[in-house]
Formats: sequence, structure tokens, C-alpha cells
Amino acid sequence: MIARISLVLFTAAMTACSAAEDRPASHMRQTSPVNAEPSPTTQNTDTLTEDIRAGEKLYASRCGACHSVDANRIGPMHRGVYGRVAGSVAAYNYSDALIQSSVVWNEQTLDLWLTNPQEFIPGQKMGYRLSKEYDRRAIIAFLKTLTPIDETP
Ligand code: HEC
Repeated sequence: MIARISLVLFTAAMTACSAAEDRPASHMRQTSPVNAEPSPTTQNTDTLTEDIRAGEKLYASRCGACHSVDANRIGPMHRGVYGRVAGSVAAYNYSDALIQSSVVWNEQTLDLWLTNPQEFIPGQKMGYRLSKEYDRRAIIAFLKTLTPIDETP
């Protein structure tokens, strides 16, 4: 039995990137540190950046034995994986279970997959699980940054 996952809203993760517009003009520059508290937006951006950096290292150590970003190895290449339909990299030899799963990779489906691929998609062939919640979150944040490079004409 295979779970059918409907397309989940692609909530843009980019909102955190549009900070720093409403600063006072440069001639207003203050010399005292009175208003120097960081805004919440800045803190969120920092947290996301930290997750992505940690995720990149974790990706190399946890996933790098089988995967790489731009080449099919034991597992399929990961560039563009976020938002992609499971089992859709050309020239990679997927299990039938993954191809027939109708899963779209987003935060929720990636989290389920990395927690226990066999439970999520029985019959798949990835023999690896990531039990730490933080590691999954950080790696997923990193995977999101791997946008396709060949999509723009
Ligand atoms: C022991 C080797 C191995 C390791 C380690 C491994 N994978 Fe995989 N991965 C595979 C294989 C094999 C497949 C293909 C599964 C299939 O076809 O059923 C796969 C498939 C995937 C897919 C599906 C991609 C697609 O195109 O549909 C994702 C996502 C994925 N792996 C993420 C990861 C991440 C993230 C890690 C590190 C936390 C990881 N894998 C670690 C072997 C591995």
C-alpha cells in the first residue's frame, strides 16, 4: 500500500531573504549603539543560514557515501530534488516502488523518507535512516538550496 501525497503548497522559503529594506538612510547613521538590537527577521535568517551550513556538512558525511549533488551514484543526484516528483531523474535506475509512489519531495515527505524510507515507501532500495530530528531538518534546508541550474533558457 502506497501513500498518495497530494501536492503540498510550496511555501516559499525565500521570505527570510528580503530583510534590510527599511533601514534609515546613510546620512542618518547613528554613532551610539542605542538602537542596535537585531530585528527578528535578522535572527530568523541567521538560524536558517546556520541550518543550511550544518546541513551541507551533514549531507557530506551522512549522504555522501551514496549520493552527490550533480551525479548519479549509488543513489540519484540531488540537484533540484526539492519540489521534484520522486523517481524522476533520467538515467538513474530507481526501484519500481519509488517510481510508482506519486510522492513529491517537500519538507514533510523528505522528513518521512529520511526517518524511515522503507516504512514510507515499502519496496524502495535506500538502506539508510536518519534518526536525529535536527539532522533531518538541517539536511532538508540544504537540499532546498540545490535549485536546478538548467531550467532557465
Ligand atoms: C547506503 C546508500 C545511501 C545513503 C547513505 C543515502 N541514500 Fe538516498 N538513496 C539511495 C538509493 C539506492 C536511492 C534510490 C531508492 C529507490 O530507487 O528506491 C536513494 C534515493 C534517495 C532519494 C529519492 C530521490 C529521487 O530522485 O526521488 C532521496 C531524496 C534521498 N535518497 C535522500 C538521501 C539523503 C538526504 C541522504 C543522507 C541523509 C541519503 N539519501 C543517504 C541510497 C542512499
